[in-house]
Amino acid sequence: MRSFANILVTGGCGFIGTNFVRHLFSDKSFSGRIINFDALTYAGNPENLADIDAAHGKRGDGRYIFVRADICDRAAVEKAFTDYEIDAVVHFAAESHVDRSILGPETFIRTNVMGTYTLLDVARNAWAGRKDVLFHHISTDEVFGSLGDSGYFTETTPYDPRSPYSASKASSDHLALAYHHTYGLPVTLSNCSNNYGPWQFPEKLVPLMILNMLEGKPLPVYGDGKNIRDWLFVEDHNEAVWTIMKSGAAGRTYNIGGENEWENIDLLNCLIELVAEETGKTAAEYKALITYVKDRPGHDRRYAIDCSRLKTELGWTRSLNFEEGLRATVRWYLSHREWCARVRSGEYKTWMDKNYLER
Ligand code: NAD
Ligand code: TYD
Repeated sequence: MRSFANILVTGGCGFIGTNFVRHLFSDKSFSGRIINFDALTYAGNPENLADIDAAHGKRGDGRYIFVRADICDRAAVEKAFTDYEIDAVVHFAAESHVDRSILGPETFIRTNVMGTYTLLDVARNAWAGRKDVLFHHISTDEVFGSLGDSGYFTETTPYDPRSPYSASKASSDHLALAYHHTYGLPVTLSNCSNNYGPWQFPEKLVPLMILNMLEGKPLPVYGDGKNIRDWLFVEDHNEAVWTIMKSGAAGRTYNIGGENEWENIDLLNCLIELVAEETGKTAAEYKALITYVKDRPGHDRRYAIDCSRLKTELGWTRSLNFEEGLRATVRWYLSHREWCARVRSGEYKTWMDKNYLER
């Protein structure tokens, strides 16, 4: 089993990265340092990790270091590798929202493609053939395209990305594996289905719907609401990532999924019931807010993951059932209204005001 002294976590101030950093500091078997490398785009919030910084930062035990920098900035990435003797990278940093990629693909190409290339290339030079190191690349099931009514994505499903977001992620996946095959860089890669849980930026389906309910705003359902996603609690995703980092084979890819398919409209109705229970309002009041809107262009119909490789080869299992995870998520958003207000102000609000009016 691998162990690491200094892990560079890119995008550690975003949704999954925040949960990953928290996950590692709660894992007693991990005693190393985490270097959180994040540019703090609209989606990144260092306050997510304020308690971690207090306990493990400069004034704590020194095991948590935050570097505000861009993964496309080669000099900054090189400096982090040198300053902190990085022996593992877990690469979460990305532009991650499909709708934004449709409105403006360029930053997706820059961060997801060029940024990943920069990290890989710096790692290759810094590690110079070492085999006791690891670059774990985080990706999505969206690279596989869209399924019909039956079937699952496996690790051998051909790539068929359809949005600028998924195309940029597919490109970064190919680069990561090419660095393994061409230069021998120890790379592992995971393709995960839709995550939900605490700290998710409220532009994605689950938190957006919860907050719109609380604010009495329309609940925008794209198209006929029958697109299907496979939902996984973020903590289970991160446990899978950590398992792969410790035990996955270099050059191998692993699908991570919830085996938990929901049509969007059914998921929304389930969320409505939970929010109604938690707030003491009636579900009917929230259902009245459901508004069918113009479909997302190129909207993939169905995603579903076969994660048997991860389960049989590495022994990963999920910890939560869907309703428990969704209820915990609803409660988290109910008790973090100030965080939600803060992350939706500033740069994000300016962008939304400009772009969403144009849709
Ligand atoms: P997010 O948008 O919440 O967070 C992205 C983070 O990356 C932010 O902290 C942001 O500041 C940082 N970042 C963006 N551009 C950067 C740059 N150029 N340099 C440095 N930092 C930068 O994203 P997320 O939902 O946490 O997703 C994390 C990763 O997981 C992504 O690679 C995404 O493709 C993948 N993924 C997400 C899901 C999901 O459901 N959210 C599912 C599967 C895979
Ligand atoms: P999203 O959370 O954006 O994740 P992804 O596009 O990566 O799957 O969307 C999840 C599903 O919900 C997707 O089918 C699009 C749909 N959706 C809506 O119907 N309304 C919304 O307001 C949003 C954000 C998404």
